[in-house]
Amino acid sequence: MASLPNSKPDRVLVKTTLPIRPTPLNSSRQPVTTGRLIIRSIVPEDLESLHVLRTQPEVMANNPQGRIDKDLEETQRRLDLFLPPKDEETFNFAICLKETGEMIGTGGCYRFTSMFGWPIIGYMIRKEFWNQGIVTEFLQSWLDMWRNLPREDAEIEVDVRTLRDGDGPVLEQIVTWAVADNIGSQRVLEKSGFENFLTWTEPDLRNTEINVDLKAFRYFLTK
Ligand SMILES: CC(C)(COP(=O)(O)OP(=O)(O)OC[C@H]1O[C@@H](n2cnc3c(N)ncnc32)[C@H](O)[C@@H]1OP(=O)(O)O)[C@@H](O)C(=O)NCCC(=O)NCCS
Repeated sequence: MASLPNSKPDRVLVKTTLPIRPTPLNSSRQPVTTGRLIIRSIVPEDLESLHVLRTQPEVMANNPQGRIDKDLEETQRRLDLFLPPKDEETFNFAICLKETGEMIGTGGCYRFTSMFGWPIIGYMIRKEFWNQGIVTEFLQSWLDMWRNLPREDAEIEVDVRTLRDGDGPVLEQIVTWAVADNIGSQRVLEKSGFENFLTWTEPDLRNTEINVDLKAFRYFLTK
């Protein structure tokens, strides 16, 4: 691993792997069925369901936006980030109930380069379905989908705090973070094999006059 000249001291260039981009297009992604869920591509018809999800204050409370979507147009702009032609930049899915087909949430990789340099995962489901193990069921299946994507060698700049000791090729990882009081999200991550590697405090994006404690998690991709 080489230090980057003129870069922030906590960033390093590493040799690792990443899923080949473009990622499979929405149209080519096969739905995956779990015990209670169907995990499928996001489609334009998800607008109403996504709006219901994103207008639940409890759901949006832990979102950096910190408020519900103002109107359907704002939700449409969010949906567009995961529809063609943007689908080739992400690996984000609709979380649906197997029994009814109802779309109750979204989850997946919504950005390939997070502030830590690694891809980042996120998820949200409607409040009526919280604490039933749904997102854990989703995440465990999604991690298999992510792991099975074709890979290529990559050289990327990452935050040194994400790394374990040692030089040489670095095992690929995916990261995320949660506000410290979002215990549900942290439990999902721990149950799915993520580990907390960093806790820090910064201005709260939802109200920059106050600080918030955040916890970052990483998951190493092993076959
Ligand atoms: C966070 C969220 C994704 C969790 O989804 P979920 O389907 O309810 O998660 P699961 O049921 O799989 O697991 C949640 C776990 O946290 C536990 N939990 C939840 N709130 C808790 C609390 N306040 N204290 C202790 N444990 C808590 C649950 O009991 C469960 O653990 P268990 O299986 O050991 O009983 C869901 O609440 C959500 O969509 N929230 C809004 C969006 C969000 O916060 N996204 C994540 C941003 S980082």
